[in-house]
Amino acid sequence: MSASLATVSYIGATILFILSLGGLSHPETSRRGNLYGMIGMTIAVLATIFGPRVSAAGIPWIIGSMVVGGSVGIFAARKVQMTQMPELVALMHSLVGLAACLVGFANYFDPSAAAGLTHAEKAIHETEIYVGILIGAVTFSGSIIAFGKLSGMIGGKPLLLPARHWLNLVGLLVVIYFGGAFLHTESVSAGMIPLIVMTVISLLFGIHMVMAIGGADMPVVVSMLNSYSGWAAAATGFMLNNDLLIVIGALVGSSGAILSYIMCRAMNRNFISVIAGGFGTGGGAPAAAPSGEAQPAGEAVPISAAETAELLREAKNVIIVPGYGMAVAQAQHIVYEITQHLREKGVNVRFGIHPVAGRMPGHMNVLLAEAKVPYDIVLEMDELNQDFPDTDVAMVIGANDIVNPAAQDDPNSPIAGMPVLEVWKAKTSIVMKRSMASGYAGVDNPLFYKENNRMLFGDARKMLDEVFMALKT
Ligand code: TAP
Repeated sequence: MSASLATVSYIGATILFILSLGGLSHPETSRRGNLYGMIGMTIAVLATIFGPRVSAAGIPWIIGSMVVGGSVGIFAARKVQMTQMPELVALMHSLVGLAACLVGFANYFDPSAAAGLTHAEKAIHETEIYVGILIGAVTFSGSIIAFGKLSGMIGGKPLLLPARHWLNLVGLLVVIYFGGAFLHTESVSAGMIPLIVMTVISLLFGIHMVMAIGGADMPVVVSMLNSYSGWAAAATGFMLNNDLLIVIGALVGSSGAILSYIMCRAMNRNFISVIAGGFGTGGGAPAAAPSGEAQPAGEAVPISAAETAELLREAKNVIIVPGYGMAVAQAQHIVYEITQHLREKGVNVRFGIHPVAGRMPGHMNVLLAEAKVPYDIVLEMDELNQDFPDTDVAMVIGANDIVNPAAQDDPNSPIAGMPVLEVWKAKTSIVMKRSMASGYAGVDNPLFYKENNRMLFGDARKMLDEVFMALKT
């Protein structure tokens, strides 16, 4: 393939990626967005393999690696449960970080990469390598820890080292110092010491940053690591002089940053404190050990499926709030059947979606779309939070943190300040879950003890099956 054809292909792929991002911004166009992305990536990969920069001798190596990597990817994608998707995404981010590190080191060792460069060009090239490895290492180790936290292998409790911000600052200064030393080394072997020191510090920083994050604040970290992985790819593009990689990396990096910003706003958190780590700990109170938190008072009142059906039958306005438990129970289809049944009887049923419900951005929207729930009755938290006082029944299906009134009432709560769906303002709220256990943030929920709240204990799918049976009789 000629250089100009490769360039045209790269431009075509870039346009498709932009269209893909545009499509992914709405559930109705998201399939098309995915398709654009797949076509764009196929063009990009083909143009790279058969482009002018890959020799014929290298092609079998690339294809062999693609077969191995592709098989692992297909196996993982087929095997992964919907509820494990965030862990898989975190793992994928770690691979982007690792790739950036490996490419950086390989580029540094490769004598041809810097051949013929002027002194200034060589300095720029080495800066690209240094920064690329730095971002890659932070992304790699941070994503591995995020994977551990999301999969439950590492506890959700934040690790708060004494003087942790000072540790980060010292790490940053050392990295800058060694960066200067790296640029002034004359030989590859002399440059290895600063490069390795920086890599180790960056790896430690990635671990420290994510370990310091409290339970409920993980969504921000996941989207932030998504952004970092984009910047790592862009840095790799600079190292390899590959325009497409720079553009794609910048697209992923900036869209991830925008998503992080949106998440921060949704969680009422400060973006800078997220980047600095140690974020979401309620000013030092660990999320899983809420020492200063007020203990909920009162008694949780259970309700049966038949009584729930009765309340729904008599209601005029119903708001359903789905959460992670709906995903675990795979209850979205029966939720839709109940919704359809109630709507046929003239009940106004709507869904309230919290921005961090579930375990990944848009998690609930994906499940409800899969069950064919009409988009126009699926509303964002801000669009319907004021409607709860006029609601007869608020039905909470496997959600917990996102409906916790302590976020508003208890300044000592680790989730204080996080906006929540105010289900307790409805005439009756019904919480569907298996036990009194806390949610992801490990915080008690005073909603369960409110006078107008009822607890429908059991697996969400099983209980909703029973509710539906009772509704139909
Ligand atoms: P959670 O607070 O995690 O609560 C889910 C509840 O579902 C649990 O209390 C659990 O109680 C119940 N549950 C589990 N399996 C169930 C089943 N089979 N049937 C019925 N109930 C079941 O979820 P949420 O309210 O959706 O809030 C999301 C949390 O995850 C937030 O803290 C958020 O910050 C965090 N998070 C979100 C993301 C993104 S991007 N969305 C990423 C990482 C973390 P039982 O065990 O008693 O049944």
